[in-house]
Amino acid sequence: MTDERTVGDQSPIKRQPAERTISGAAQSGDQQVDHALRPRSLQEMIGQERLRDKMQILVEAARQRGDALDHVLLYGPPGLGKTTLSHILAYEMSANFKVTAGPAIEKAGDLAAILTNLRKGDVLFIDEIHRLGRAVEEILYPAMEDFSLNIVVGSGPGARNIQLSLPKFTVIGATTRLALMTSPLRARFGVVERFDFYEPAAIQEIVIRAARLLETRVEPAGAHAIARRARGTPRVALRMLRRLRDYAQVRANGIVDAAVAEEALSLLEIDDLGLDDLDRRVLDAIIVKFSGGPVGLDTLAASISEESDTIMDVVEPYLLQLGFLDRTPRGRVATRAAYAHMRMTYPERSEQGTLFT
Ligand SMILES: Nc1ncnc2c1ncn2[C@@H]1O[C@H](COP(=O)(O)OP(=O)(O)OP(=O)(O)O)[C@@H](O)[C@H]1O
Ligand SMILES: [Mg+2]
Repeated sequence: MTDERTVGDQSPIKRQPAERTISGAAQSGDQQVDHALRPRSLQEMIGQERLRDKMQILVEAARQRGDALDHVLLYGPPGLGKTTLSHILAYEMSANFKVTAGPAIEKAGDLAAILTNLRKGDVLFIDEIHRLGRAVEEILYPAMEDFSLNIVVGSGPGARNIQLSLPKFTVIGATTRLALMTSPLRARFGVVERFDFYEPAAIQEIVIRAARLLETRVEPAGAHAIARRARGTPRVALRMLRRLRDYAQVRANGIVDAAVAEEALSLLEIDDLGLDDLDRRVLDAIIVKFSGGPVGLDTLAASISEESDTIMDVVEPYLLQLGFLDRTPRGRVATRAAYAHMRMTYPERSEQGTLFT
């Protein structure tokens, strides 16, 4: 295992969206590989240069002062490296890394127990931090701001308020849904950083590094084919790499070259932009069932029997990035580029968005 310790209850079993090769969300087979392939230091991290530079400065400044790291909030779509970077920050600070998650901390007392066990400089990683309950958040505010813990002991008329001081520690929060975080909680973080999708060149480098660690032979053209379709997401790229490795082992000579990549990816029904069946169903529904939109997220999700969360976290960010979707106050709209990709004729619209007849 690793150096991390899990604190708090394990979250109740989370409903996983149907497993897709190109979903950014973590899946059952990922975890082992995730750990093995995770870069450990900032230097080993590939891509996200802007973010990495900022983190380097943050870490060095804190180290020079002999201080704990400022609280850091990381947000962005799944699979881009929020958990990985949190580990790295703790590693760079030579700090203990303790892990918990929003849904795992049910009561204020659960959080109080976690906090009183922290030592100076420890990193407390709170995944899915947007899912903390209100009462729990209220314990966290003074803990993050003044390193003090206010708890009520006893009940009724004999109840007493006691204040404990905590050692200086660091909270690293991660979320795919910044918008769902309350503003007082957001305000407690000195550093708030967003992960962007990776450039194909960075993904290609990540694939090559992973192939080396997995002792799989991948030709540059194979890595390139993966990078083009991995929707800028390391987790997706690594998962594709494993599927291609399997394919190469069973159907070819074990080497992931351009031909293996093309064959395996078309078997997986992943098109040349990295869209899979679900993405195409979403686009198809907007275009055909809702005449190009606008359509609300829940209506759209229901029309194809999928979870709104899956569409919002995994499908939509990439379609927006490709310029296939527009988000308007009245809902999602398919763009001209989306029609073209789906090989459908774009209806010409007037300024108001109504169809010309
Ligand atoms: N910069 C990187 N270089 C190399 N590998 C990376 C990088 N970032 C992430 N990875 C790999 O991608 C995988 C997913 O990363 P990670 O688990 O940190 O994503 P996440 O943002 O926390 O996702 P989630 O929102 O689902 O929790 C890991 O296996 C990790 O090894
Ligand atoms: Mg994570």
